[in-house]
Amino acid sequence: MNCTRCKLKAVMKLPRHNAAFCKACFNDFTHDQVGRAIRSESMFAKGDRILVAVSGGKDSLALWHILLTLGYPADALYVNLGIPGYSERSQEKVSRYAESVAVPLGATLHFHTVEKEEGAGIRELAQLVHRPTCSTCGTIKRYQFNRAAIEHEYDVMATGHNLDDEAARLLGNVLHWQTEYLDKQGPSLPASVDGFAKKVKPLYRLTERELAAYCVLNKIDYIVDECPMAQGARTLLYKDVLNRLETESPGTKQYFYWGFLDKQRKKEPGHAAMAEKDQTMLHPCSTCGQPTTADVCSYCKLIARAKNEVSR
Ligand code: AMP
Ligand code: FES
Ligand code: ZN
Repeated sequence: MNCTRCKLKAVMKLPRHNAAFCKACFNDFTHDQVGRAIRSESMFAKGDRILVAVSGGKDSLALWHILLTLGYPADALYVNLGIPGYSERSQEKVSRYAESVAVPLGATLHFHTVEKEEGAGIRELAQLVHRPTCSTCGTIKRYQFNRAAIEHEYDVMATGHNLDDEAARLLGNVLHWQTEYLDKQGPSLPASVDGFAKKVKPLYRLTERELAAYCVLNKIDYIVDECPMAQGARTLLYKDVLNRLETESPGTKQYFYWGFLDKQRKKEPGHAAMAEKDQTMLHPCSTCGQPTTADVCSYCKLIARAKNEVSR
């Protein structure tokens, strides 16, 4: 098998593009897909301050690496969730990458440690508030990502969500006809109100398999295991179903998600209408000041409930 572009020996087959690439052409392809995502969704420009949420997994470490390689001076945030064993190992991967590659290039790595700041790890917090660990984790991560971006005055907050993540999420939303979530499923969400950072997903044109290959080829050491709390999650089932369709019919995932994005783009006024809606619905949380539709935001409610349980 030879590279479709340069005819040297190929190391990676991409059935969805009817192509195969050698290492150099595969890296060019990956960088090009991220560049296209950034430009077509107006994610950010060269002078913008970018904060990448880095978990230690392949996607977010690849994202940090790609942005630095493309000349974007991106910093990163790692949230230590206090999951015994898993959090230590993932933090080590992020720290190692930062020390060996990112910091020498001038980037900064910020840390947030849930046990230190919220008083307990996410498993314990979830038990205290009688909620599933993953949803407690989601509330804390979303809140802390936004808070870090606002407090450190970043223009934009980037996450490593890839094509598989977004297609699986879309499938879940469509299966349950959660139309209110569909509007917020794009790869670029503007900062609709003060206190909310702009959020972008520059990897939405790349699959999980491609990002794993990118890390291996570029010697980026990442945590291979899934979070132990995620086992059996619905998203994994949706990903599996989509992968089976993809094997039978290469390109299914991208037709599904990109097709959805095309339709959303045509549904003007889109973002402008969303921002207007947010401006009427959102106001500062009475405890922490972050935007919320309620009097107290879901993060402050969660922390208050957990504290309440501890003092009972
Ligand atoms: P997940 O929700 O675990 O699929 O992760 C989606 C994205 O959120 C990742 O690609 C990262 O950008 C970010 N992320 C997840 N967990 C963490 C974490 N513990 N610290 C920083 N960023 C994270
Ligand atoms: Fe949040 Fe696993 S990463 S529960
Ligand atoms: Zn709050």
